[in-house]
Amino acid sequence: METVVSGIRSTGKLHLGNYYGAIQNFVKMQHQYNCYFFIADLHSLTTHPTPGDLHGHVKQVLVEYLAAGIDPEKATIYVQSDVPEVAELYLYLNMNAYLGELERSTSFKDKIRAQPDNVNAGLLTYPVLMAADIIIHRATKVPVGKDQEQHLEMARTFANRFNRLYNNEYFPEPYAFNFSDKLVKIPGLDGKGKMGKSEGESNVVNLSDSPEVIRKKVMRAVTDSGPTTENQEKPVEIQNLFDLMNVVSSADTYEHFDQLYNTCQIRYGDLKKQLAEDMIIATAPIREKIKEIDQDSSYLRQVAKHGAIKARESASKTIREVREIIGFRSF
Ligand code: TRP
Repeated sequence: METVVSGIRSTGKLHLGNYYGAIQNFVKMQHQYNCYFFIADLHSLTTHPTPGDLHGHVKQVLVEYLAAGIDPEKATIYVQSDVPEVAELYLYLNMNAYLGELERSTSFKDKIRAQPDNVNAGLLTYPVLMAADIIIHRATKVPVGKDQEQHLEMARTFANRFNRLYNNEYFPEPYAFNFSDKLVKIPGLDGKGKMGKSEGESNVVNLSDSPEVIRKKVMRAVTDSGPTTENQEKPVEIQNLFDLMNVVSSADTYEHFDQLYNTCQIRYGDLKKQLAEDMIIATAPIREKIKEIDQDSSYLRQVAKHGAIKARESASKTIREVREIIGFRSF
């Protein structure tokens, strides 16, 4: 059976972008593959070196993974920092990751711009740690959003380079995976790019947001002054709202508002109200489960412990073999 790995950085609450971009795929894949889903707390240190509530953020993601339907009996769910073998593989891969290629990564360039006062080595080698996350379980499929394509390409480069340097075929090539034919992009509410926390809390709808908060955020989403000619192309901020509607609303609802737009009769207030209600309905079961699971410390402890044991079994086997391949021997 093919092995699957994916993770999400723990910088707080998960949003609809995480859910529709990644977690829905996790939930489906757990029935068909040998899955490892982790909480990337080490990666979170590249942007948040001294998080006020590191453990709280890890707990939040764990709770939301479970609430969204990842089943710890089917998939291995673990916290990245519970598996020190990942850090060891990262170290080995770093020896053969070159400054030039790391500097060319778009996510690195974005981060330099976003945090010019903290251009740290962890940020530079973020793709190396991500490659280690994946190939530590010798995974071939990685359910991620479109923005991670370049990281996956780099993971293949590091895996192939290891194989070539040590003259073997130990690591398979990992590829981005999505059940739909396109990698989904979930837009944010700010009228610009994808849904993401770095653009501010008002740009995201969190899985744990209350109905009131969802309504408030959606009603404040950026729109324009409305279409003036029939069937005109939608500007990006309007297209974004339709894209969100496409994900959470029924086909009929989408058609209805699309029709109104095309005949210049649309009232954005109505569209937003509908969008908010459909988001509330789509997230209701998850929201309920988050509240429930959040209270159950002993269950969370048991899941994290069980996950760490299973993940370390797989990871330590890889490290043992990698050490052998590189040539480390004990006396
Ligand atoms: N870089 C990913 C993101 O920002 C998170 C991540 C870290 C990841 N390690 C991974 C995803 C390994 C898949 C596999 O979304």
